[in-house]
Amino acid sequence: MLSVERNETLTRFGAGTPMGELLRRYWWPVAISSQVRTHDLMPVRVLGEDLVLYRLLDGSVHLLEDRCPHRGAALSHGIVEVDGLRCPYHGWLFDGSGSCLEQPGEPESSTFAHRVQARAYPVEELGGLVFAYLGPQPAPVLPLYDLFTWDDAIRDVGWAVVPCNFVQIMENAVDLDHVAWLHGRYSEWLASRGMPVEIPRTFSKLNQETAFEKTDYGILMRRKLEGQDASADDWSVGHPLVFPNMLRLGGGGSFGFHLRTPIDDEHTLLLWYTTYKPGGLPVPSPGPVSCYEVPWQWEDGSFRLDHVEGQDIMAWVTQGRISDRSREHLGTVDRGVIMLRRMYFEQMERVRIGMDPMGVHRSGGVIDLPQENEKFGEGTGFVRDFLSAAHARFSTRVDEIVRRYAEVGLDVSGALPVVR
Ligand code: FES
Ligand SMILES: [Fe+2]
Repeated sequence: MLSVERNETLTRFGAGTPMGELLRRYWWPVAISSQVRTHDLMPVRVLGEDLVLYRLLDGSVHLLEDRCPHRGAALSHGIVEVDGLRCPYHGWLFDGSGSCLEQPGEPESSTFAHRVQARAYPVEELGGLVFAYLGPQPAPVLPLYDLFTWDDAIRDVGWAVVPCNFVQIMENAVDLDHVAWLHGRYSEWLASRGMPVEIPRTFSKLNQETAFEKTDYGILMRRKLEGQDASADDWSVGHPLVFPNMLRLGGGGSFGFHLRTPIDDEHTLLLWYTTYKPGGLPVPSPGPVSCYEVPWQWEDGSFRLDHVEGQDIMAWVTQGRISDRSREHLGTVDRGVIMLRRMYFEQMERVRIGMDPMGVHRSGGVIDLPQENEKFGEGTGFVRDFLSAAHARFSTRVDEIVRRYAEVGLDVSGALPVVR
């Protein structure tokens, strides 16, 4: 349980708030590269700030505040030109750094443009994602987490936008006990009532023990499932939460990040970044990083409970736009949640006293993360469930992935036909 005041501190991300200042120390995934085509504009909202992302002919991507410094029209309605973005209202032109290059209508001799600056933010592309940094300079380096650099794996990214606060989604990342219930028993109950839900059987095993360990990147989580001993990957290796916004998980040669970006205090962008290396082998010609939308609502607005992520999203959204933690009753299963909340508060304090928070890197290099492979004691059984019952079922590449596994003698087929 948190006091109303501490809950407010934890869940408000505006500039100048303690949590907003903490989160502005990190690079955030704000779009999928393939969604930002050349000469395209894409309005994005990040940490409550309205921004516009655009790609120039030379392939570079830029991010500006979605507000013209002249009289405030939205630059996201502008014109992408060779040198930059032109405001639709009176034609002022801004380059990627926000400098004003042209002011049609001003006298030719005017130097006014030199004194006008649109607010611009650093942007970098990595592994098929567009990352932005909204914090104070100097910007830290964009961390090269291992999977983002794997160009010898099939990679794709699912996405969705959900109407709830970022923190309740991150809390789910350290909630090891929900898995067997929400995705196991609950799926079985739905199926018993005739719903066409694919039950992820490898997810259904109960934990006999869990452990949460603070590391320099976040929290390492371990579980010992019923029937497992300490030598099992789930316990001896585990899988991490990468502070402040990523869950790393996977198995059977398929590894991924669940990335979450606060759109504002009540909406969150979800990105499921997945890599596939059947048999752990490099994939020849893996193709570009592709993307797919993960539908979590039926047409009538009700939750889709027929897949793992739809079930998770139901649990997050029904907690309320911003969960009222003053009314909760935490138990033993919530140890990871408590550790994560403390971590957010500790890191807010580091920022307050002028230090870099954890996970802010000032120099580069690939960062390898610990990752169980025999997840749930299964390996490819997990991949089969993942492709049939989780967000991956909506990937446009399921057939190709199943075929690539078959090519190395592994069978991950058996998915239900996808209901879209
Ligand atoms: S408001 Fe943008 S040029 Fe006038
Ligand atoms: Fe879940």
